[in-house]
Amino acid sequence: MSETLVAGPATGPLTGDIRPPGDKSISHRVIMLAAMADGTTEVSGFLPGEDNLATAQMFSQMGARIEWLNDEKTSLRVHGVGLHGLKEPQDVLDAGNSGTCVRLMTGVLAGQTFASTLTGDDSLRSRPMKRVVDPVRRMGATVDGREGGEYLPLTIQGGNLHAIEHASQVASAQVKSCVLLAGLFAEGETRVSEPKPSRDHTERMLPLFGQPVSVHGNTASLVPVGQLTAPPADIHVPADPSSGSFFAVAASLVPGSEVCLQGVGINPRRDGWRRILTQMGASIEQEHGLQLGEEPMADLFVTGAPMKGATVRPDDIADAIDEFPVLFVAAALADGEFVLKGARELRVKESDRIAAMTECLVACGAKIEEFDDGVRIIGCKRLTGGVSVDARGDHRIAMAMAVAAQRADSPIEIRNAGGIHTSFPDFVEMAQAIGMQVEWA
Ligand code: S3P
Repeated sequence: MSETLVAGPATGPLTGDIRPPGDKSISHRVIMLAAMADGTTEVSGFLPGEDNLATAQMFSQMGARIEWLNDEKTSLRVHGVGLHGLKEPQDVLDAGNSGTCVRLMTGVLAGQTFASTLTGDDSLRSRPMKRVVDPVRRMGATVDGREGGEYLPLTIQGGNLHAIEHASQVASAQVKSCVLLAGLFAEGETRVSEPKPSRDHTERMLPLFGQPVSVHGNTASLVPVGQLTAPPADIHVPADPSSGSFFAVAASLVPGSEVCLQGVGINPRRDGWRRILTQMGASIEQEHGLQLGEEPMADLFVTGAPMKGATVRPDDIADAIDEFPVLFVAAALADGEFVLKGARELRVKESDRIAAMTECLVACGAKIEEFDDGVRIIGCKRLTGGVSVDARGDHRIAMAMAVAAQRADSPIEIRNAGGIHTSFPDFVEMAQAIGMQVEWA
């Protein structure tokens, strides 16, 4: 399988109606809760990316049965084993590239009376884990790992947890969700607060499984009811706004484009990219809004528009944290200056996204000043093609650069792009369907 993409430039406007794949964050959570519920949960719109399949594989290793209902693995039936029904895995649990899988599973495994070991790929083994290890240790779990538990592999011996109040130093849904999931197994009320509200899919989904969660400002809390119950209705996962944002930026940047993104999640905690892009002059109309379960979704119509720079509002950062690579592309091709500060978290994602995007875009002639916690980008009319850039194995860097290439003067080679399979296995086909120039080398 090739790891190199060749992309751009676009030969005309981008057009068409597409449905981006299922939401990655929600797909992780639905497997986790359904596997630990009493009863059977049917799910449609699931994302069959490598990250989510890693989560599914972990629960299979611990005794839950996952029945795929179609060849694409977008529909499934999860036969839950009950909150206390997971079995000791016979082997190491491998999260691959997925931070969400490993951090949320730290909470789940802290609640188990058996020992288990979590690991991941080179990227994941270099990402910080103390942010989840510290709270579950305080709840009573024993966790061993490299450098005092900062890095994978982690071995967790859980059980007999007690509730804590945890004040997270970072706005992170992974930390918040880890603590809430551990709280399902703890005695008493578990509370977790964060400096700014992060995505709230866990808080929205737990009540569907019969576990109430209270949310007051930036604090979420739960008192465990002692079980999860499979919901009577099927769960439909909305299309992933993070995946949709690549096409929204591409359509905004290529003049004359008209692209409809169908059934995309518009949860306000995920919608920061749309607010920032609109601030930059993008034309994004919302239609056919509906709410299935606890997650809102809508069709988004994006048309090409002149883009201008912007200063990102602090309140939008957590709500757009995964979309900055492609927003930097929009900024590099906008009129004027784009400034982002206060986003140091970007340095500890699947790659150091500030460094990776700066390196890639500068190689294409963009003007970028890098800060420890953000960037200043001075937009230009067109990028320089004919260069080879390194996506560092990070899916979002690879897809963002494929978008950038649509507005380059000749094709761009994107190396180490295989990470796309973690979140968006059909990216190339879908991009081609709206007329983007991109293919595997
Ligand atoms: C996620 C939370 C975010 C995000 C990640 C998915 C989640 O990470 O970057 O892609 O599903 O909870 P942080 O919680 O570390 O910000």
